[in-house]
Amino acid sequence: MSDKVLRGRLLTFNRAPQSGDDAGAYTYIEDGALLVRDGVIARRGSFAEVERIAPDAPVADHRPHLMMAGFIDTHIHFPQVQVIASWGAQLLDWLNSYTFPEETRFADPAHARRMASAFFDQLIAHGTTTAVAFCSVHRTSAEAFFAEAARRGMAMLGGKVLMDRGAPDALRDTPQSAYDDTSALIAEWHGKGRARYVISPRFAITSTPEQMEMAGALARENPDCSIQTHLSENRDEIAYTLSLYPEARDYLDVYERYGLVRENSLLGHAIHLEPREIDVLAETGAHPVFCPTSNLFLGSGLFDHAGLKARGIESGIATDVGAGTSYSMLQTLSEGYKILQLNGKALHPLQAFDWATRSNATVLGMADRIGTLDEGSDADIVILNSRATEAMALRMERAETLAQELFVLQVMGDDRAIDEVYVKGRPAKRRSQDRQRQSLAMAGEFAGA
Ligand code: GUN
Ligand code: ZN
Repeated sequence: MSDKVLRGRLLTFNRAPQSGDDAGAYTYIEDGALLVRDGVIARRGSFAEVERIAPDAPVADHRPHLMMAGFIDTHIHFPQVQVIASWGAQLLDWLNSYTFPEETRFADPAHARRMASAFFDQLIAHGTTTAVAFCSVHRTSAEAFFAEAARRGMAMLGGKVLMDRGAPDALRDTPQSAYDDTSALIAEWHGKGRARYVISPRFAITSTPEQMEMAGALARENPDCSIQTHLSENRDEIAYTLSLYPEARDYLDVYERYGLVRENSLLGHAIHLEPREIDVLAETGAHPVFCPTSNLFLGSGLFDHAGLKARGIESGIATDVGAGTSYSMLQTLSEGYKILQLNGKALHPLQAFDWATRSNATVLGMADRIGTLDEGSDADIVILNSRATEAMALRMERAETLAQELFVLQVMGDDRAIDEVYVKGRPAKRRSQDRQRQSLAMAGEFAGA
């Protein structure tokens, strides 16, 4: 049995804040502490209470920093680590010009392994402890993704994309190979340690009806696996989709016809929705996923968070790297705030931080394990420094409330504000930074040789 105590200003959410002064929605303890036992939060309380229970446990004192549940990113592309910041195109041109060529490189297991290590280093650096990732079409990329997550003990969800048309030869599977590879990956990884497999038809444009049938069969055979895809991100994409599936009533209907819309479906973007599609989301409990930095970067459009919420639809929020421009969920919340402003709404910081933690965990059906600092949850924790830069420290001199401090983090924060990250109770950020420095130094030596 290994015990340790983490001490800091503790903040965790109990339910979605209805407004900025909904104090019952969260628990805040100024001198708070967590007793972590074998990677799980065994006790939460004031430091005095926790110290009484475990007087001999070593203490990591993070005061005056904030201690929260690790961030959860509900939509990201692992093979796009080197696509981020590619200039000048909207969705379909961006995919063809930059993304598809880059993803072909993941057929090489050595490349996939190197990128998996780099990808998880970035997630940790930015305070993200769980992510839902699209891998490339190659089984090797999903193998590399899950193997690296397991090595780090991280709760990760992902799957190889299914795509049998509309892309270069090197990026196409077949309906049968997609079914076989996905089934094998589910058998190998789903539920192993903290891994969860996600059935991942990339989007309607890159799957034939025959492959969609296979995706539907996989979904039926594996009801416990989430499903992820893309929906109504861009107007040209929608028009092209409807030309490929002329019998579909709308974009979402393509997925509905094959049994891919259900409570554990994650539908990236969902910007340009028809009223019927919104009805179906409300009826099925499927989850749209808001990707603010990506939607601005590709000029895709403004996600109607308030409209969907008013219908009882619970959306995830995510980076969508590499169309997304930052791994940081803080930056994602900042851009999300701006998109809501353009829709005449304001995202309160309490709601924002609940979204990136507890609410995203709920969207994944995992709130019993991650997303809060509740007793019994896995100890995936982020330590946030709201004075990480001079500009932030200057602004913080005038911050008087917790909400104001959170908003400084939301708007001005990035990886510099992530002081430490715990995965299953083990400090991960400093270790991963040391490893990155070593590998960059080695790369420099090779380059110099
Ligand atoms: N639609 C299909 N594939 C992708 C992708 O990789 N990124 C984004 N943003 N949209 C997609
Ligand atoms: Zn995406």
